[in-house]
Amino acid sequence: MGHRLHCCGSALSIASKGVENGSLEGTRTMSMSPADIPVAGNAGRPGPAGHPGDAVGVEGVSKIYGGEQPVTALDNVDARFRRGTMTAVMGPSGSGKSTMLHCAAGLDRPTSGRVRIGDTDLSSMSEKQLTRLRRDRVGFIFQAFNLVGALTVEQNILLPSRLSGRKPEQAWLAEVIERVGLGQRLRHRPTELSGGQQQRVAIARALATRPEVIFCDEPTGALDTQTAAEVLALLRAVVDDTGQTVIMVTHDPVAASYADRVMVLADGRIVTDMPQPGVRAIAEQLANLGRRPAPNREG
Ligand SMILES: Nc1ncnc2c1ncn2[C@@H]1O[C@H](COP(=O)(O)OP(=O)(O)OP(=O)(O)O)[C@@H](O)[C@H]1O
Ligand SMILES: [Mg+2]
Repeated sequence: MGHRLHCCGSALSIASKGVENGSLEGTRTMSMSPADIPVAGNAGRPGPAGHPGDAVGVEGVSKIYGGEQPVTALDNVDARFRRGTMTAVMGPSGSGKSTMLHCAAGLDRPTSGRVRIGDTDLSSMSEKQLTRLRRDRVGFIFQAFNLVGALTVEQNILLPSRLSGRKPEQAWLAEVIERVGLGQRLRHRPTELSGGQQQRVAIARALATRPEVIFCDEPTGALDTQTAAEVLALLRAVVDDTGQTVIMVTHDPVAASYADRVMVLADGRIVTDMPQPGVRAIAEQLANLGRRPAPNREG
């Protein structure tokens, strides 16, 4: 196809993926027990390498978008995400969910504060180092899919593996493609697919390399109920079966109920953090949020 993709050349085996700095445990760890649910807030100070067992740590992170009217998208957020857990991030539109995900994944730099992936501190990393970290250790399902229009479905799914010079694990790849239901569409291009199908390509692409952490921004937003349930079951399975970590933004209480924990943002702050709430408890929290008095916008 003439797409000569950059290859880093390091022959990392699948079994040792993501372990370049020893931060990832064996590839087949079991999930955490419910008692080990992650906690928000800064319970105890992390050491220089962060809290052991955390997949992602966000400490005192603020993000202020400049301009004539600066917007505080994140306001001093502290959150820890344990390895092998699934967290749902909820909250009204504009509450900072995507911004938090982007900062936590190293896609955007916070204005202040610190982000760690495993024991790697992102704040001191160069752009080149961040690019490499995202490529090797992070999967991201964007709110707007971000598929490459010139590539087929199959090439999109294989892109992260090709960029990092790693051979995809064929059995896993086949399973992911089957579970997102794309087997018949591998030779098509994104423009030839429905929104839900594009969403599923983005999901398969993020899962294909089995990254340490999978960030998903409304991964089921464009899917019908049945396909959404399959995708959520797949995300749940990667957490339970392989000890990967999923952090998922969603507006849907049913989707959130697949998670071990639900965190709610409002006005750039974490206002609720619930371990394993049911659909009804989640919906109630969101409804209560709507009844909160407006923050002192007018001063
Ligand atoms: N590049 C930007 N420049 C200026 N303001 C921005 C920028 N990106 C986001 N914002 C603002 O930051 C705030 C948080 O945005 P963010 O995209 O994180 O919200 P969200 O919770 O993901 O919302 P949604 O549910 O609609 O996706 C919003 O007020 C938004 O307008
Ligand atoms: Mg968003």
